[in-house]
Amino acid sequence: MISTITRQVTVLLLAILTIQSVAQKSGSETAENTKISSLLAKMTLEEKIGQLAQFHLWSRNNDVEQLSAVIRRGGVGSFLNAGDRANKEKLQRVAVEESRLGIPLIFGRDVIHGYRTVFPIPLGQAASWNPDLVQKAAAVSAKEATQMGIHWTFAPMLDIARDPRWGRIAESPGEDPFLASAMAAAMTQGFQGDGLADPHTIAACAKHYVGYGAAEGGRDYNTTLIPEHELRSIYLPPFKAAVDAGAATIMSAFNDLNGIPTSGNPFTLRQILRSEWGFDGFVVSDWNSMTEMIPHGFCADEREVAIKALTAGVDMEMVSESYQHHLKGLIESGMLAEKLLDEAVANILRVKFRLGLFENPYPIAYDATVILHPDHLKIARELTAQSLVLLKHDAAVLPIQKTAKTIAIIGPLADSPLDQMGTWTPDGKAEDAVTPLQAFQKAAADYEILYAKGLETPRSSERALFAEAVAAAQKADLAILFVGEDHLISGEARSRAFLNLPGAQEALVAEIAATGTPVVMVILAGRPLTFAPLIDKAAAILYAWHPGTMGGPAIVDVLSGKTSPSGRLPVSFPRTVGQVPVYYNHRNTGRPAPKEMLGIPLGTPEDPKGYVSNYLDADFTPQYPFGYGLSYSSIEYQDLRLSSGKLHPGEALSVSVQVQNNGQYPADEVVQLYIRDRTASVTRPVKELKGFQRISLPAGESRKVTFRFGEQDLAFWNIDMQFTAEAGLFEVMVGSSSADEDLLKEAFELVNDPAD
Ligand code: NOJ
Repeated sequence: MISTITRQVTVLLLAILTIQSVAQKSGSETAENTKISSLLAKMTLEEKIGQLAQFHLWSRNNDVEQLSAVIRRGGVGSFLNAGDRANKEKLQRVAVEESRLGIPLIFGRDVIHGYRTVFPIPLGQAASWNPDLVQKAAAVSAKEATQMGIHWTFAPMLDIARDPRWGRIAESPGEDPFLASAMAAAMTQGFQGDGLADPHTIAACAKHYVGYGAAEGGRDYNTTLIPEHELRSIYLPPFKAAVDAGAATIMSAFNDLNGIPTSGNPFTLRQILRSEWGFDGFVVSDWNSMTEMIPHGFCADEREVAIKALTAGVDMEMVSESYQHHLKGLIESGMLAEKLLDEAVANILRVKFRLGLFENPYPIAYDATVILHPDHLKIARELTAQSLVLLKHDAAVLPIQKTAKTIAIIGPLADSPLDQMGTWTPDGKAEDAVTPLQAFQKAAADYEILYAKGLETPRSSERALFAEAVAAAQKADLAILFVGEDHLISGEARSRAFLNLPGAQEALVAEIAATGTPVVMVILAGRPLTFAPLIDKAAAILYAWHPGTMGGPAIVDVLSGKTSPSGRLPVSFPRTVGQVPVYYNHRNTGRPAPKEMLGIPLGTPEDPKGYVSNYLDADFTPQYPFGYGLSYSSIEYQDLRLSSGKLHPGEALSVSVQVQNNGQYPADEVVQLYIRDRTASVTRPVKELKGFQRISLPAGESRKVTFRFGEQDLAFWNIDMQFTAEAGLFEVMVGSSSADEDLLKEAFELVNDPAD
């Protein structure tokens, strides 16, 4: 009874607080709307259309005079890549001091995983499973970027990706909507801080809305076919999380989604984004993605592009100029309602007001100490260390033992500063990056370092440098090989049909392993690679992604044991490219293959496979599952307990597990909670991540970890496309990865009737 009353009082208090905050919000919103509508009332048709234009310096061949002339007549609302601070200030002065209404420009830039302090690629950041640290990194990016007069970043990139052939998986938060949503909120909050008006924050842009990561065949810009159910369950949640966290802008994508390009798609842009989610910022198209609706076969010409994009809800046009060329005529002839234009302008002005651009249009006073500040490098080192995933560790080689007196550092990525920064780092500088070789040399008090490149670049097939590398390995007690992908083959338009180590790297690893010196393979890459033939050759494997500026020191921290390896895969790793897509939250099928039916070779004389969902020539399971990652200790999960076998509406269940560090090293562990809905009105995934906790466990210690969840955590898009939970049986699983063998399992029932 007491608890019921307490609950009612709490609900009442919450309701009052909510009403108060709505009232406060509507007060400031009214003031904001008044400012917007009074400015809008003063604008000519041309000036309104001008606000919708996002130029690049190239838009007028880098000719500042020509650009200034367009700005002066109110013909530009924004620039991307507007050059250095001085250039931005020059353009802004024209807008503010020489245009009729003095509306400031908003300057955008791709600050994707850092400005000068470059953090791991976003896929690597997701591997940290540490939203707090990711938020700090985004705040650092904002601090550095605002020094350069940047107001707005084209990040976070939130495309769920199940296909490592797609080069942009590097920018993605991975395959899981729950983890991606946590990253989405963290990055948005990091960029935008406590408020956009703070001159050290920047507006976020959740992109690429939506489904872009599902490109057929992993080929960039390719068609996407995603049923609405899957769109809502898998691809939309991270965007919703960004919107809920206050993301100021959204970028519409390049892809054709179910026959309608996303830059002309009223269902995703108007119905879902504006009506269902209440988004009140602005939508910018991707680079020429509006006019690309012509080759898509969705628009006959630029005029139709302008009609379809504005009607769908794209507010600002990046680089292409269909709005500039056609909106005036379309509105004057009555083909388009001016109200649509007014809405788009209002959305853009709203963000400009929120950013405080009318009060502070010019770059903040320059403070050189902000760039690469030691605190920023510290956060980068910490986040990078937490992004590193130990995939294999079956010999006593790691952490590096005292017996390893001579260490051979080998490989084309051991000392390649530009490559380690990865894709999309237009402002990162190679000279700022500390490579693994440099970091080892600096830390080398305890051991002698021998260095041999082995291959000129990761894509080289010329083996002239092998002999030197083999000689170094022969002299050493331990060989650490840095192999993988160079930055140029990961990222936009960098799709690959093969996922193996490029060039002669496999041969290099094999030759070094043949020396008998224990091999630690450190893989730097923008995507999951396939390297099954090398797994047995290495005593340990560390997946380092493209780790950024502080990659070297962070890798040394982890290899030396100063920091526990604690990254966990944000995406499943295939055994072979033919398995793609392979992802953990798949449905079960009517004929799931049993785990013991692995790897029966094609040459088998009988017919041993049965009629189940399997491959004849490869295992169907991933090489490494989603959520997987080791530490130097052995961690045991035991004693899974549910607070009840029944969950009633409005109540919560708690599930606890005892996590024990049985090893001799301290460990950071990511405890993961998965749920399976056994039967529903639509088929459900075999498991879905619903919670995770990062904990530190000293050697020999044990800790109880508890999660709580309620009916709302079991909700899904049902057969009537309603987001709700359905009564019935569920499984709850807790453990160290998404693989069955790493999870403890219990069952419970969601009951509708409180009396049950
Ligand atoms: C195209 C890319 O798809 C997008 O992610 C980026 O923000 C824009 N170009 C601007 O550079």
